[in-house]
Amino acid sequence: MNVSHRRYHIITFGCQMNKADSERMAGILDNLGMTYTDDPNQADLVLYNTCSIRDNAEQKVYSYLGRQAKRKQTEPELTLVVAGCVAQQEGEQLLRRVPELDLVMGPQHANRLDQLLEQVWAGSQVVATESLHIMEDITKPRRESTVSAWVNIIYGCNERCSYCVVPNVRGVEQSRTPEAIYEEMAVLAQQGFKEVTLLGQNIDAYGRDLPGTTPSGRHLHTLTDLLYHVHDIEGIDRLRFATSHPRYFTERLIQACQELPKVCEHFHIPFQSGDNEILKAMKRGYTREKYLQIIEKIRRYMPDAAISADVIVGFPGETEAQFENTLQLIEEVGFDLLNTAAYSPRPGTPAAFWDNQLSEEVKGDRLQRLNHLVSTQAMERSQRYLGRVEEVLVEGENLKSPGQVMGRTRGNRLTFFQGEIGELLGKKVPVKITEARAFSLTGEALSLVTA
Ligand code: SAH
Ligand code: SF4
Ligand code: F3S
Repeated sequence: MNVSHRRYHIITFGCQMNKADSERMAGILDNLGMTYTDDPNQADLVLYNTCSIRDNAEQKVYSYLGRQAKRKQTEPELTLVVAGCVAQQEGEQLLRRVPELDLVMGPQHANRLDQLLEQVWAGSQVVATESLHIMEDITKPRRESTVSAWVNIIYGCNERCSYCVVPNVRGVEQSRTPEAIYEEMAVLAQQGFKEVTLLGQNIDAYGRDLPGTTPSGRHLHTLTDLLYHVHDIEGIDRLRFATSHPRYFTERLIQACQELPKVCEHFHIPFQSGDNEILKAMKRGYTREKYLQIIEKIRRYMPDAAISADVIVGFPGETEAQFENTLQLIEEVGFDLLNTAAYSPRPGTPAAFWDNQLSEEVKGDRLQRLNHLVSTQAMERSQRYLGRVEEVLVEGENLKSPGQVMGRTRGNRLTFFQGEIGELLGKKVPVKITEARAFSLTGEALSLVTA
């Protein structure tokens, strides 16, 4: 089928993995000769890249889908695709629920979108959810930013946290080779990208499925080794990585971050709960004390490092006292940013079957108290930037305030200042911070001469 005059639209839910997958799928559609449109109602192909981490994320997908399914009744040429984690979780069932769908495809199939569409356009309704060895991506992703790029280094997750769907929907760990990662980053550098965020659900697991160990039995390929390996790529000025797991986090990694100038002083290390009993029930494999030791070590090497995390409240059986242990851990650490969530029972996860579930009311109340603490603390942490000069990598315009550009500090604080985007995009600018809010800063450029 000749699809070159066709337009597509992609709607992405969920985490950075999904965003990275969407960029690769858009690259595949571009490759087929299709063109991107901003308006889903003008598109001949609409793709939903879905998230199932919590029930509300999943429900959002169904309400969006309903609208396009209706459109298909009058426009039978419309191609409707559901990709991502809900697609993997629901598979065939999704077709029964929304028979207008043409293609249901799990995250491991993202790089095969073109082959799957070929089957669709030949007249089949396709479900692709079998587990797969992920093929190296040979298409060029259509990246949203021109400055900062995501690079997957490990797919999947071998942990079994008792609340989490990710291992069910993303499959087992599959690391890319250091060579493939290096090559992708070298191309990004040539294209003018300045910052790369290495991605994995449990990024500290990187390499353990690749062949080779050192004489002492350590894996030859670790995240730390990878950081050294890719550090010399000229043009890439900043390196970040996410998500770290407290169980696997090493001092070697902290040392590498301190030693390697391009690696930004920001750590995203979810702790999920500050109570040892709850951590055990979550099957996280570390204690509150171990987590605090990690933070202490990071601060010993890099006193100013930014620290962010994820936390869940209202896990089955969580008592008020256990919840307060979480609040207390937050008080003790002082986070720059926290992603908070009320526990949501997910299909196929152990905790969803337990009979000690808490009421929505209790969960909602705890979430509210938690969020209050989080923003107060973020506000306090922000104050330390006042009057300081921070290096800001300019990523775009501040759409809310014309004449201002926006970027991030090395600690990942969103920062705004007056400037000309045409001149500054992709530049590192020293900015004197004049205003500090909980989650963003405002400042003045010291000089427009950039590094
Ligand atoms: N791999 C990362 C997290 C991936 S999921 C890690 O191990 O930390 C992103 C976040 O969603 C989690 O950190 C957790 O805080 C939250 N989350 C996962 N499952 C959840 C559930 N069932 N209910 C509420 N929040 C959940
Ligand atoms: Fe989910 Fe745990 Fe894996 Fe993170 S480490 S993706 S929370 S199972
Ligand atoms: Fe959601 Fe899947 Fe990411 S469930 S958080 S999109 S791995």
